[in-house]
Amino acid sequence: MGIKENLEELARRSREAELGGGVERIRKQHEAGKLTARERVEALLDPGTFVEVDKFKTHRCTDFEMEERKVLGDGVVTGYGKVDGRLVYVFSQDFTVFGGSLSGAFAEKVVKVMDLAMKTGAPVIGLNDSGGARIQEGVVSLAGYADIFLRNVLASGVVPQISAIMGPCAGGAVYSPAITDFIFMVEKSSYMFITGPEVIKTVTHEEVTKEDLGGAHAHNTKSGVAHFAAPDEKQCLAMIRELLSFLPSNNLEDPPIVPNDDDPDRRDEALDSLIPDNPNKPYDMKELVTSVVDENYFFEVQREYAENILVGFARLGGRAVGVVANQPAHLAGCLDIDASIKAARFVRFCDCFNLPLVTFVDVPGFLPGTAQEYGGIITHGAKLLYAYCEATVPKVTVITRKAYGGAYDVMSSKHIRGDINYAYPGAEIAVMGPDGAVNIIFSDQIRKAKQPDQERVKLVDEYRHKFANPWKVAELGYIDDIIMPEDTRPRLIRALEMLQNKRDRNPAKKHGNIPL
Ligand code: HXC
Repeated sequence: MGIKENLEELARRSREAELGGGVERIRKQHEAGKLTARERVEALLDPGTFVEVDKFKTHRCTDFEMEERKVLGDGVVTGYGKVDGRLVYVFSQDFTVFGGSLSGAFAEKVVKVMDLAMKTGAPVIGLNDSGGARIQEGVVSLAGYADIFLRNVLASGVVPQISAIMGPCAGGAVYSPAITDFIFMVEKSSYMFITGPEVIKTVTHEEVTKEDLGGAHAHNTKSGVAHFAAPDEKQCLAMIRELLSFLPSNNLEDPPIVPNDDDPDRRDEALDSLIPDNPNKPYDMKELVTSVVDENYFFEVQREYAENILVGFARLGGRAVGVVANQPAHLAGCLDIDASIKAARFVRFCDCFNLPLVTFVDVPGFLPGTAQEYGGIITHGAKLLYAYCEATVPKVTVITRKAYGGAYDVMSSKHIRGDINYAYPGAEIAVMGPDGAVNIIFSDQIRKAKQPDQERVKLVDEYRHKFANPWKVAELGYIDDIIMPEDTRPRLIRALEMLQNKRDRNPAKKHGNIPL
């Protein structure tokens, strides 16, 4: 063949690869309200930056007459490109080719970009839309999954890994996204489960739809498996771009600084009256967080799950931070199993990727009850404690109101290497709330009193006055200062500036043994 023919052959094969499973299946994909694998990559990356790898790769299966059915690219589009000018790697499963199912060759393509990502220190984004293991390939497909799982684990904490679920993701295939740092799901068109509705019906006789079992709503509100839900694919991809804007490309880099016009010295007098006089009255911690951060913008993670704790990203003085905050407007801000797990994983993510932790504390303690105890609140609460203890990134803490009992220690206290710890003047910091404390230490006195109820009220008042305040704690140096709520933003920004070159480390070890 001459040069002209060679060029034409390249163009022809390229067009063929780009058609994936063909026009008819692309039409079906669009009819289902879904973009194709390539359209998704285009929407995710900066325009014109995508460079494809292994466009012409095919499977090697010869069973079930598969040698007659080869599709260039074999059901996954892989390569690299840019998001806001920064390098990322991407693989995008193509449902139009054998239902996006994973063959040995398909897995090799994914593994290739993951290996490149590790060598070059850039995030990996996986766009999932697949019927799972390629049934015709049998155990070769399972081997391919395992090759990917291993890389997911080795890359964990080295480069950010993000998964979007944009169609089916079932069986063992769910474990790759589960190991990645964040899972996005598209409402109504994505689902994840280990066993589907049919198997469940046979085994447990429960009847449940795919959507109720493993849709975006189920995993964002009930299981906590997913971190974000997007109303459609375009918004899902835009949210991934936004998330990346807070993250460094790898564990050796600092997060990008994004300058903005928000004055670092901006004060908000409204904060002085946000927290109600009555300690049992709730307020919305989100108001406080959004008031304090740059441009009042809080990019919340797992917004609909364990709402008694808030986690998410924001910027202070242009620097990205991870925010963790008890939410008194939900379950009084108690720590329970779900909240502990949610926050622990977030704290560990931030520590992996050099994001300072800003913690707002208003916690009456751990949630009491048999459901919590039998569910293992001891182990799960310990996860959060462990995560904060282990974290060596800058840690700045503000106690806005209550910090009681073990929860005081857990929530990034001075004792577990909090760098700068502040409290508001109305903070209550003690072993337990005044009511509980008085009932225990003055039970005799109350019982013997002529008017036990009045006696209890008097003792509770005395206890609150004596112990449930920040002064004792400041005297001990367990908090560094008591600050006016209106000054929170400038004080946080100064603390973070001061800490920007912080270096701390944990003892050398293979790895710790977090209570899983
Ligand atoms: C090979 C597959 C496939 C698979 C789908 N297809 N899944 N080919 N292996 N796993 C093909 C179909 O034959 C069809 O080909 C095309 O993809 C589209 O599938 P449809 O069934 O027409 O689409 P739809 O009705 O939308 O249903 C999608 C689906 C269904 C729900 C995903 O296809 C399905 O249930 N597939 C099987 C899922 C499964 O059991 N996978 C193995 C799970 S075990 P044509 O040529 O007609 O377009 C597993 C283990 C992983 O994944 C282990 C990791 C450790």
